[in-house]
Amino acid sequence: MKDLCGERPIGVFDSGVGGLTVFRALRRAMPREHLVYLGDTARVPYGTKSKEAVTRYSLEIGRFLERRGVKHVVVACNTATALALPALKRALNVPVTGVIQPAVHAARAAARSGAVAVIGTEGTVASGAYQKAWRRAGAKGRMVAAACPLFVPLVEAGWWDHKVTKAVAKAYLEPLLRAKPAALILGCTHYPLLKPVLAAVAGRRVVLIDSGTATASQVRALLAGRGVLRRGGKGSTEFFVTDGPGRFELLAKRFLGRAAKAKVVRFPG
Ligand code: DGL
Repeated sequence: MKDLCGERPIGVFDSGVGGLTVFRALRRAMPREHLVYLGDTARVPYGTKSKEAVTRYSLEIGRFLERRGVKHVVVACNTATALALPALKRALNVPVTGVIQPAVHAARAAARSGAVAVIGTEGTVASGAYQKAWRRAGAKGRMVAAACPLFVPLVEAGWWDHKVTKAVAKAYLEPLLRAKPAALILGCTHYPLLKPVLAAVAGRRVVLIDSGTATASQVRALLAGRGVLRRGGKGSTEFFVTDGPGRFELLAKRFLGRAAKAKVVRFPG
């Protein structure tokens, strides 16, 4: 039974293409795993939507992944993690991991007792989910947060290193940097692609925390603990989108540096 479970895929979902940064980290950490990724491209963005809407979408996707026989669900989207993780955990029969708690643990380790800054979508920041996870982790330092809504369109436009992006990053980060954070949590799927710009603005003393990497190592440890890590063979990948695949495939090529073919699934399914 244990080995059979190991053969089952890991389900990963996001509001769209951004979760591919988490997908990439999962793939690096677990090259033998089968991964099923769903990008909810028909309903993106989640960052400006209500908790009720994001929870409904997330549950539909979680159930879809469960029907595909996944052994674990990874919520790659920070907004879905912030707004819908408890509902997903209650509704699904497989373990669910979000990106917030792993990032908070990594930030705590990097910052020790120092302050930490977090940036994300409007929904993520307004939810206070990072602050709650920070307190739950018993962290002593202060946490400051800011929503950075212009980053997602800038990343999707390919302006990763553009002077406009640098100016926007300065405007967003300067108020946070006054708290002298030791670490900056990149609390949105798209932000790892802005690392060079964010590092330049934040300065050398601020450690950037990529939630994808932190989540991938936690998921790997959880699967190993359950005895369901896939031991042999090459991992496979299946991509699903909820709208025409064209834009996803174009952006996926940029995000992953390779072609990604996606199948369309419609919700409610
Ligand atoms: N994936 C979202 C997140 O990480 C960003 C894009 C959106 O707003 O849907 O919060």
